[in-house]
Amino acid sequence: MKTYKIAVIAGDGIGPEVLAEGIKVLNCVAALDGKIAFAFEYFPWSCQYYLKHGKMMDDDGMERLAAFDAIYLGAVGYPGVPDHISLWGLLLTIRKGFDQYVNLRPIQLLEGAHCPIKGIERQQVDMMVVRENSEGEYAGAGDWLFKGKPEEVVLQTGVFSRKGTERIIRYAYELARKTGRTLTNISKANALNYSMVFWDSVFEEVGRDYPDVKTYSYLVDAASMFFIRDPQRFQIVVTSNLFGDILTDLGAAIAGGMGLAAGANINPERRYPSMFEPIHGSAPDIAGKGVANPLAAIWSVSQMLDHFDQAEWGKVVLQAIEKVLVQGNCLTPDMGGTAKTDAVGDAVVAMITQLKR
Ligand code: NAD
Ligand code: IPM
Ligand code: MN
Repeated sequence: MKTYKIAVIAGDGIGPEVLAEGIKVLNCVAALDGKIAFAFEYFPWSCQYYLKHGKMMDDDGMERLAAFDAIYLGAVGYPGVPDHISLWGLLLTIRKGFDQYVNLRPIQLLEGAHCPIKGIERQQVDMMVVRENSEGEYAGAGDWLFKGKPEEVVLQTGVFSRKGTERIIRYAYELARKTGRTLTNISKANALNYSMVFWDSVFEEVGRDYPDVKTYSYLVDAASMFFIRDPQRFQIVVTSNLFGDILTDLGAAIAGGMGLAAGANINPERRYPSMFEPIHGSAPDIAGKGVANPLAAIWSVSQMLDHFDQAEWGKVVLQAIEKVLVQGNCLTPDMGGTAKTDAVGDAVVAMITQLKR
């Protein structure tokens, strides 16, 4: 029996609601498989925790998390605690501290999911965004000088190291080669005359090792337009931290909505645990009502299974999500249904069981 140790950080708002359904799915997989098990440990770190203890996680938090095979995270951030405090105190600390420098975000229109663009076929929205996840615009470097004075100055410095830029671009080339897909670089070298000129030159340099990979390059503004106008241009996409953040919400909108968009924060060297999460936030507007869509959190379970080299199961979970979408009678309100969060989780579990029978 192989037991995977999973640290669960449900976090804020709808985080706990959607993670409960992902955990149901993992338990179902374990029961059907018989040879794998999941041991969950729950961490209460959240904005509520902050309001009580003055910190988003315990001082030895990272040491304790390091012992797990993976982290399953819901959402962090809630009114009452400034977002930069809650996010830098937990989510971003983990991504950086565990060198999860690859953020893998599938933008894939599943059968049965609604695309708001007229005339778009399912096959036309099928990309994998490889977002740089450790530095760039989110390096957290800067200063706030003369605060509150008329001469106030704020600096937010983008940090693009050679190591950081090379490794993410190489990862994307490898993925493109392995999957036989095209690779598109999205940057902004016309205006960002240091960081993105450097980024593009590294893209070209690393590309010399991959003559077999067909590449394209876009400026991020034009790329956003083409995400909507002609998404089939994009297969594997590599981009910086900030651009990847924005483009994947946009991507979510054309691939069924925020309720369906998943992401994996990967430390490819496996020195540290990787972290799996829906890409949406805590959704304060619908929290506590039991109507949040759990499918993004469940899709991230599928990514976790892939990461555990249980790709067969990863595929089954994704297929089950797709079949629940196609069936269409058990969906949350964001997808036009009336079902509750836990009913959708139950429907996925039933579908997995049926698929494996
Ligand atoms: P959000 O993603 O929480 O919500 C945006 C919109 O999408 C809302 O209308 C919400 O109801 C809807 N939505 C999101 N997930 C949904 C789901 N599963 N089912 C149905 N509808 C869903 O973004 P926001 O409102 O900008 O941010 C809210 C808080 O979450 C902020 O504190 C923000 O910093 C934080 N945040 C955290 C993460 C994370 O932990 N990974 C990601 C994004 C935002
Ligand atoms: C995401 C989120 C985070 C990010 C925030 C909450 C810091 O928007 O995971 O997409 O920008 O990375
Ligand atoms: Mn985001």
